[in-house]
Amino acid sequence: MHVVSIINYKGGVGKTSLTANLGAELAWRGKRVLLIDLDAQASLTFSFITPDVWRENFENSGTIKGWFDAHDSGSPISLEELVASPARISQRLGPERTLDIIYSHLGLINVDLELATKLGGANLSQAKKNFINVHRRLAEGLRKFSDGDVYDVVLIDCPPNFNIVTKTAIIASDFILVPTRPDGLSTLGIDYLMRSIHGLVKDYNDFVSVDPIDSVEPIEPAVVGVVFTMIQEYDSQPISAQRNYIARVKRDSGLPIFNSYIKRNDTLFADAPEYGVPVVLTSHKNDSHQSVVDGLEEVATEFAKMIGI
Ligand SMILES: Nc1ncnc2c1ncn2[C@@H]1O[C@H](COP(=O)(O)OP(=O)(O)O)[C@@H](O)[C@H]1O
Ligand SMILES: [Mg+2]
Repeated sequence: MHVVSIINYKGGVGKTSLTANLGAELAWRGKRVLLIDLDAQASLTFSFITPDVWRENFENSGTIKGWFDAHDSGSPISLEELVASPARISQRLGPERTLDIIYSHLGLINVDLELATKLGGANLSQAKKNFINVHRRLAEGLRKFSDGDVYDVVLIDCPPNFNIVTKTAIIASDFILVPTRPDGLSTLGIDYLMRSIHGLVKDYNDFVSVDPIDSVEPIEPAVVGVVFTMIQEYDSQPISAQRNYIARVKRDSGLPIFNSYIKRNDTLFADAPEYGVPVVLTSHKNDSHQSVVDGLEEVATEFAKMIGI
């Protein structure tokens, strides 16, 4: 099982759309996929179910927030209990394929405050233990799935920040995938994000090695690459302003860059033609629709090859 965090400090760069479409395409190809919505904005959640369905069935205890809360209240529940299979997706994929999701909650933002109170300690050794225990919570929770060989890939839609909840995703991840728009502000943050991730990984591994805790291993999440989103094409290639940004990131970031990219199409993405179904699984409407789907499929192919599934 490969765990992948989809992350960028910036909001609105297409993290959630990439998570949904990548997950859906891989599931279509027969991979067993779990999506986790770790963003308090819950956009991934509400791209699969309506707020009414969420309120009725998930709000009270069926979200990732409920899982963190239960842990803090001393009666932990298993992540397995939170796994949902959205109805529209199941209809589309059929019984043989698996695209599951763990939904988010608008109150997830408060979980960070709660987790922060668990950090620190009477002495350095206790503080290090607390740091590790708090930060590996999601990794620990996911262990059941990997032990049971339940999924081929877990995609975590991260919030646009580097709070403790986000850090639990990084610590749980084998891979990091960075979507970005080809503009100055969006690409500026990549370098800073990478430094934050390296800093976190280094602290975690230092603490693990200095004061070993049973079955806690050092981690080494690898950057799968940068995927450009919302690309505007002219003559079957990105317009020249966007090509310049892509070239700059290729040159300066030192990170792998996907050859394929996600095309911009406001109608298709802003207003999914079939509610609850990611664009990549919607039926052919016209040539521009097909061209967006082709791009998404190419990104999925590149991604699968890079993580080895
Ligand atoms: N390729 C695209 N073309 C046009 N609009 C897009 C595309 N990808 C995402 N969007 C829209 O842009 C907004 C932000 O996308 P989203 O995936 O939610 O980004 P993030 O998760 O990084 O905040 C949403 O309204 C979404 O529908
Ligand atoms: Mg999002």
